[in-house]
Order: sequence, then C-alpha cells, then structure tokens
Amino acid sequence: MIETLTPLSDQQRAVQQLAKDFATRELAPFAGAWDKASEQDPTVIGKLGALGFLGMLLPEEYGGMGLDTLSYLLALEEIAAADASTAVAMSVHNSLPTKMILAFGSDAQKREFLPRMATGEWLGAFALSEADAGSDASALRAQAVRDGDDWILDGTKVWVTNGNRAQVIVAMVRTDSPEHRLGSRGVSAFIITPDLAGFKVGKKEDKMGLRASPTVQIAFDGMRVPASRLLGTEGQGFIYSMQSLESGRLGIAAQAIGIARAAAEHAIAYAKERHQFGKPLTAFQAVEFKLADMATKLHAARALLHTTAAAKDRGENVGAHAAMSKLFASETAMWITNQAIQVFGGYGYVTDYPVERLFRDAKITEIYEGASEIQRIVIGRAVAAS
Ligand code: CAA
Repeated sequence: MIETLTPLSDQQRAVQQLAKDFATRELAPFAGAWDKASEQDPTVIGKLGALGFLGMLLPEEYGGMGLDTLSYLLALEEIAAADASTAVAMSVHNSLPTKMILAFGSDAQKREFLPRMATGEWLGAFALSEADAGSDASALRAQAVRDGDDWILDGTKVWVTNGNRAQVIVAMVRTDSPEHRLGSRGVSAFIITPDLAGFKVGKKEDKMGLRASPTVQIAFDGMRVPASRLLGTEGQGFIYSMQSLESGRLGIAAQAIGIARAAAEHAIAYAKERHQFGKPLTAFQAVEFKLADMATKLHAARALLHTTAAAKDRGENVGAHAAMSKLFASETAMWITNQAIQVFGGYGYVTDYPVERLFRDAKITEIYEGASEIQRIVIGRAVAAS
C-alpha cells in the first residue's frame, strides 16, 4: 500500500510501530478464530494494558502515556487492521470512560479510577443508549432518585461494548423528576461499578460483525449508588456525552480506516497473485481501477482524520470535523470491503479469506457512536451555522 503523507514525529512513529508489532504478533493470527468462536482470548486486554494502550490519552501522573491524539489514532488503526474487535474495546475505553473521568471527574475520582484503568486492570465501558433512545439519545429514561447520600438507579442500557467485562462504566441516567422533565439537561453521568447491588448484565448480542467484542445489555435494579459516584455536575451528563463522543468518533474513524486498509491490502496481494485468462488480475483495468479507488479513498479518509486530530490537539473546536472523519472513514470502509470481496470473487464470499469478516466488521462503523445520518445532522447544523 502507498505510504501515508502525514508527517510523523519520532514518537508517533515509535507508537505506530509498537502497535503494528503487537498487532502482527498477538492479534492478526487469531482474529479469524476469535470471530468464529465469538470470543476473544481474555489475556488480550491485559496485554494492551501492559503496552500502555489503555491509558494512551491519560497524563503520566495517572499512569497514562500522555500521548497526542494522532499517536493514539495511529495505534488504533494498526490494532483495527489486525482485529477490529480489539480496536473497539480499546477505542471505547480510551475515548469515553477514561477521558470522561479525566475531563469531568473530581480529584478523588481521578485518583481512584484512572491509574487502574490506565493499566487495563479495570476496563471501561460507556452506557448511553436505551431500547427507545438510540439516535435520539437525550430521550433516555433510566432514572436516578436521590436518597440521602445515595442515588437509587433503575433502568436498562443497550449496546454496551465491554459491558460484561468492564469494572468501570460511565452511565447516563435521568436525575430530573418525571413531573418536571428538563430534556437533555435532565441527564447526569454516574460512575458505575459491577459490584453494586442491583447491577445486572443482560442479553449478549449475537452480532453480524465484531463478534469477538462483547456487546451486552446492562440493567440497574434499585441500584444504590453513592453520591460520590456522580460524575461532574448534575444535569450535565448528556453534554459530557456529546463532547466525549467527538473523541470517540475519531477513534471509530481510525478503526474504520484500519479495517479498510486491511481489506485493500488483501485485495492488492490477491490481485497480484491470482491469474485468469493468462494474466494477473492487476493487468485487468477493471481490477486496477478498483485498487486505485481504494487507495485514493483510504488516503483521503486518513488525511481528514489526521488533520482533525492535529486541530483537536491545538485546542480547536472539531465537532463537525470529527463527524466528517467518522462519516467518511466508515463509508469508505464499507465501500472498500465490498470491493475487496468483488476482487476475490467467490473466494471473498467464504471464510477461507479474511475479507468477508472485514466486510461484516466494517458495517458497524456506519452505525455505532452515531449513525451516518447523525453525523450528517451534526455536519449539516455546523454548515448552516457557518
Ligand atoms: N458539545 C457540547 N455540547 C453539545 C454538543 C457537543 N458536541 N452537542 C450537543 N450539545 C448540547 C447542545 O448545545 C444543547 O445544549 P443546550 O441545552 O444548552 O441548548 C444540548 O447538548 C442538546 O443538544 P441538541 O439540541 O443538539 O440535542 P438533540 O437531541 O437534537 O441531539 C444529536 C443531537 C447529535 C442527534 C445527539 O442526540 C446524538 O449525537 N445522537 C447520537 C448518539 C450516539 O452517538 N450514540 C452512540 C452511543 S455509544 C455506542 O455506540 C456504543 C458503544 O459502546 C460503542
């Protein structure tokens, strides 16, 4: 594959290489088997933690690597190119619960949770969606009622990545009263741990792709949560989620680019070696043009993402650009994985080659952390306001 043009510092190159070496050795050889078994080797999370990949965006004082956003995204692309299921666990953990506790948590909360999240001893999850509140996230109905020094939580969350193996879940719950609803301002963020009485893990979803990444429902059944577990200010949970999803969406864009790159690399290698009508497939312009379009779209997606990451680290407002990055990268991943199957022909449709898994894995990037339609809403509103 043609090299990316993003200028990288020595540190960014080193992080990228570290991720590539780990992914090649510890993930790529096993990703197909984990997909078939719908189960990942449970030691993978610990290995990611040992490399520092679960504290990439945390400052060193909390045991993190204190890296810039681009370093993190370069590592995620490498991990996703080998195993997209591992990439989503890493992306959710780094972008959402750890960053939310860092950004909005009290000193005591940061000291209690972040050092153990940075090492992977405690894996994180993010619980926003509900059965009737997906794209319309602020319509969520899980309810917290204050009781002395505690809150009593009731409700069910869906689509929770890592929800059955996380030790720290940042969950969005209503704290306004049913008689006086405050819309998006009536939602608060809580730090939930599974040891709380009334915490339950529900159905594990049987998914099309990312089969080695657990996605579960979680329920709060009269769950008593100390008031010290409220994250930040009461009523700000929806706003915190929206702010944090900006980082999350950059992570999903990197994941999509990793999936797309893997599919393009497989297609290129296959097109060079596969002969039909006495010639390699690369000698047919129909195939050559597909490979050219794959490379072009991949580089455009990466350029948009990397430019956005650099602007984020300069402190600029990148909400619309994060949405564009995720939208373009995920639709690119879907297009490239589809075309990769076409290059492979019948062999692309069976499980002997990885492109069918990559195609299944790519689809979710157009759906989670805000469907493509939601990204277009975010971009469209920014365009109209500009
Ligand atoms: N930063 C700061 N504040 C923001 C913001 C942002 N990026 N986006 C919105 N807000 C604020 C608004 O300013 C507004 O504040 P005021 O009350 O002061 O006016 C408030 O939040 C409400 O905003 P909107 O009126 O824009 O809210 P909306 O109801 O129209 O929804 C939306 C906007 C963009 C559609 C939003 O609901 C959304 O992003 N939906 C998708 C949810 C999503 O991505 N879910 C993924 C869940 S995680 C997951 O996928 C599972 C996993 O584990 C991977």
